[in-house]
Amino acid sequence: MKDRIATVIKNRPCAEGIWSMTLAFDDLEEIKGAQFLDIKLPDRSKVLRRPFCICDFDKDAKTADVCYAVVGEGTKVLTEVKEGDKLNVLLPLGNGYSPKGKRIMLVGGGMGSAVLPAVITANPDKEFFVYLGFANAGKVVLEKEISAKGATVTVATDDGSYGKKGFVTSYAREAVDTVKPDEIFVCGPEVMYKAVRKSFEGCGVPVYVSLEQRMGCGIGACLVCNCKVKRADGEGYVRVCKDGPVFLLDEVVL
Ligand SMILES: Cc1cc2nc3c(=O)[nH]c(=O)nc-3n(C[C@H](O)[C@H](O)[C@H](O)COP(=O)(O)OP(=O)(O)OC[C@H]3O[C@@H](n4cnc5c(N)ncnc54)[C@H](O)[C@@H]3O)c2cc1C
Ligand code: FES
Repeated sequence: MKDRIATVIKNRPCAEGIWSMTLAFDDLEEIKGAQFLDIKLPDRSKVLRRPFCICDFDKDAKTADVCYAVVGEGTKVLTEVKEGDKLNVLLPLGNGYSPKGKRIMLVGGGMGSAVLPAVITANPDKEFFVYLGFANAGKVVLEKEISAKGATVTVATDDGSYGKKGFVTSYAREAVDTVKPDEIFVCGPEVMYKAVRKSFEGCGVPVYVSLEQRMGCGIGACLVCNCKVKRADGEGYVRVCKDGPVFLLDEVVL
């Protein structure tokens, strides 16, 4: 992990309230899928960095992409960043997700889908079956980018305005018997993990999730991002930024 100066080479809207940013670096070390970066905002009154997953990366071009929803003051400030501007960025952070099996089912809910392209880029030898869920057609992101990587992609929207109608987790669950994945990786809101826990229980496939917590330092020092886990040796707390963000769903206390 290194603190670097990045040059913004793209920053523009890509869906309703969602922006896509590309950052160029002088050097870029090995990145795992589901690792994240922490951006220092150009507005000095906002001291805390803002964490975003590394949506995708290009090792040769030394670039990393971020796909972000504009939800508050910090992300509003990010939309004002211009191409050519410099940003202070800490990366890569977190444990990341390194699948062991060959056939991998990826499930993204809303902005959680932003983590998936990098998982595919970092694992060119795996076969990916991707399920993306959004609230409505206006919120759909990254479908084309993920399809372009050769993955099979199914999209569902809650209101049926694009793709299949309903929760994507139901379609993913239905597909487990035909896809026969070796592992399942899910990234989305906590409510999605609760639904996945209920419906995927007993499917016989390990399910990994990427947790999102409010963060302070992003590097394991402040303990702001604690989350409770249950392991063979008992219950305890882990830091989402350093020990995660990827955990086995069975171990997470939701
Ligand atoms: C490891 C990690 C990866 C993330 N990846 C992405 C990503 O790829 N794309 C993306 O759009 N967002 C991502 N987030 C969430 C993102 O960090 C927050 O949306 C952002 O920091 C909000 O900043 P703000 O100043 O605009 O909002 P604030 O004004 O601080 O808050 C506005 C709203 O955002 C919520 N919020 C703030 N911080 C977080 C947080 N850490 N997690 C969840 N909700 C938060 C608040 O509850 C509030 O409702 C990620 C968070 C983490 C921890
Ligand atoms: S954010 Fe400081 S320990 Fe995780």
